[in-house]
Amino acid sequence: MATLELQHLTKKFGDFTAVDDMNLSVAEGEMIALLGGSGCGKTTTLRMIAGFTEPFSGTILVDGKDVRSIPPYRRNVGIFFQNYALFPHMTVFENVAFGLKLQKLPKAEIRERVENMLSLVKLVGLDRRYPRELSGGQQQRVALARAMVTRPTILLLDEPLSNLYAKLRVEMQVEIKRIQKELGITTIIVTHDHEEAVSLADRVIVMNAGRVQQIGTPQEIFDRPVSPFVADFMGFSTFLHGVAGPEENGLLPVKCGSHTLHVRTDGGADIAPGDACVLTIRSENIALAKEPGDNVVSGQVRTSTYKGHTTRLEVTGCFDETVYPALSEYTEHKEGETVQLYFPPERICVYKDEKKMEDQ
Ligand SMILES: Nc1ncnc2c1ncn2[C@@H]1O[C@H](COP(=O)(O)OP(=O)(O)OP(=O)(O)O)[C@@H](O)[C@H]1O
Ligand SMILES: [Mg+2]
Repeated sequence: MATLELQHLTKKFGDFTAVDDMNLSVAEGEMIALLGGSGCGKTTTLRMIAGFTEPFSGTILVDGKDVRSIPPYRRNVGIFFQNYALFPHMTVFENVAFGLKLQKLPKAEIRERVENMLSLVKLVGLDRRYPRELSGGQQQRVALARAMVTRPTILLLDEPLSNLYAKLRVEMQVEIKRIQKELGITTIIVTHDHEEAVSLADRVIVMNAGRVQQIGTPQEIFDRPVSPFVADFMGFSTFLHGVAGPEENGLLPVKCGSHTLHVRTDGGADIAPGDACVLTIRSENIALAKEPGDNVVSGQVRTSTYKGHTTRLEVTGCFDETVYPALSEYTEHKEGETVQLYFPPERICVYKDEKKMEDQ
């Protein structure tokens, strides 16, 4: 168990800043998910924590102690790298046992721990195989076992589940979380999947171009992203542009195209009448309405896609932009059919349209 603190952590490659002034406090046993687009600095952050990359500036504290002078192998950090190279000349058993042998544990204990771990990652019976005799997903699980078997105080996982098919992926998510909580390992997991991030982590960090955009609980980030960028990353797909009117009774009217949507802000939005705004709403929060009313706008179905647990529509003609409702009940909608959509005021997020303001 350990606390981890990053203070003003910065990494430059030449003139390029890969990680820019990152600040983060991770509590003992906490699991943090790091989310962001390709090249935004996730792996670089983990490499600095592990000691494989020297920061340009800033401090990394483990249990309050600066780790700068401690070499990687003495940091007690378990690492799962994105390109999880296994040792090709070692069997599965030997790969997983490697770190325990370095720790000079008794043979019997090594065997017991490796076997336990192989059973957790569902690889029982494959211990004598070589990496080349395993599928991509199996190799990934060996690497995961190798990272966790030493019971590190800090665990860094860089996209550990990216190669697994959906069902196994969910099972492994549950296992990782269970082991992590059971052993109380302070963990940072990198993922590009926002659903994985919110289902695994105590807190989620969204990064963009080396900078932290938002840190919060899964619910905060899922329900109240701080910017359109974060919303986009968290799977919001409907984005509308409009102009704000004067707020009344906690509701902010925003004129989008020829319709006005009311957004519940309760005075919390820093938006003045006349400001250009961006609105966003999660697909599953847009509902079908039976009759006209406030925040009900009609449009035409362009496509309807059955997704199993939802039916996803593409609806045009409501605003200038396309709207993407996800309906939980199975309903058939034909192309060109007119539907009335309800946008609940408390479910709409509103932001100043910074781009538009800059252009003016
Ligand atoms: N050794 C290096 N020399 C120069 N540039 C580098 C080096 N390592 C990383 N970069 C650059 O730093 C940026 C951040 O890289 P990083 O690997 O941290 O991204 P990432 O968020 O992990 O992306 P991905 O999701 O694709 O794995 C990228 O633009 C990358 O090209
Ligand atoms: Mg990476």
